Amino acid sequence: MHILVTGGTGFIGSALVPELLKRGMSVTVLTRYEQPLRAGVVYIQSLDAVKSPVDVVVNLAGASLAQRRWSDSYKAEMVASRAGFTEQLVSWMRAQPRPPSLLISGSAVGFYGCSRDQFFDETSPPGRGFSAQLCQAWESAASVVEGADCRVVALRLGVVFDRDGGALTEMMRSFKLGVGTWMGDGDQWLSWVHRADVVGAILFLCSDSQSEGAYNLVAPRPVTHREFCRVLSARRPTLFSLGLPAPVMRLALGEMADELLLEGQRVTPNRLLDAGFDFRFPSLDSALIDILSRSKL
Ligand SMILES: NC(=O)c1ccc[n+]([C@@H]2O[C@H](COP(=O)([O-])OP(=O)(O)OC[C@H]3O[C@@H](n4cnc5c(N)ncnc54)[C@H](OP(=O)(O)O)[C@@H]3O)[C@@H](O)[C@H]2O)c1
Repeated sequence: MHILVTGGTGFIGSALVPELLKRGMSVTVLTRYEQPLRAGVVYIQSLDAVKSPVDVVVNLAGASLAQRRWSDSYKAEMVASRAGFTEQLVSWMRAQPRPPSLLISGSAVGFYGCSRDQFFDETSPPGRGFSAQLCQAWESAASVVEGADCRVVALRLGVVFDRDGGALTEMMRSFKLGVGTWMGDGDQWLSWVHRADVVGAILFLCSDSQSEGAYNLVAPRPVTHREFCRVLSARRPTLFSLGLPAPVMRLALGEMADELLLEGQRVTPNRLLDAGFDFRFPSLDSALIDILSRSKL
């Protein structure tokens, strides 16, 4: 099987690619930059450089939502690198003599907007705010290729945890100094998922010929930020814990603070569970035991 991975150099892609190779798949990674040679992987900078028919496309490329303040120009880049790029990808797919039969494309739980008290599953309607609009535009660009010969899966990802990057590395900074922290009042929900389960779910959805539509890719047991602090403090003892005041976070981070950190959403992975996907790390404690045992975090 030949798989094209866009954004295959990123936090998720760099864990996915070795697992695809282990299963004997041939892998092409679309990236903006030259990459060091790696056995079994073809790196390309343009879709025109794809050499042989692709069976499955995994579309993960996009400018980070968490790395920079959301200026108007950066918002435009976040949209262009996801919805805009996905439009090009889909046009390329449709133009192939033997088009791919599956597109697994990124999205996020931000699709649902934010809420303190609602539960969101895949039947919940889209929410409001920049992240929600971005996810809707991204999913809708991918859905254009959907049809009798091509299934489209949207991965509504929660916050992905593992070592060496991603949100957990940032969230653990204060813990390393012996101070447990949560954001704002800490009662907002954090729908997280272990990176190994993200990779496992992508492989599962590739091999399940019935899979299509949106799947929430979050662990079955979300936590509040305050609970996150409590569970992590049990594994990485702290001297004391405190909440980072919401006004300070808004001042430092702008609009991103509310949408990504201070509000949140409580999301359940109903469709994956119904399809029989088995999460290796259903609880935060099980995920942290694994991650901390493999890292110096
Ligand atoms: N990690 C999470 O917690 C999380 C949560 C929800 C949703 N997601 C979504 O899932 C996707 C994969 O996540 P990730 O954590 O692996 O992301 P990541 O580490 O930021 O990697 C994304 C990849 O996209 C490419 N990229 C970055 N900026 C770009 C730009 N301006 N234009 C085009 N390509 C660009 C980069 O590849 P090259 O530099 O090689 O071109 C990068 O390796 C992302 O789209 C992300 O929004 C992730």
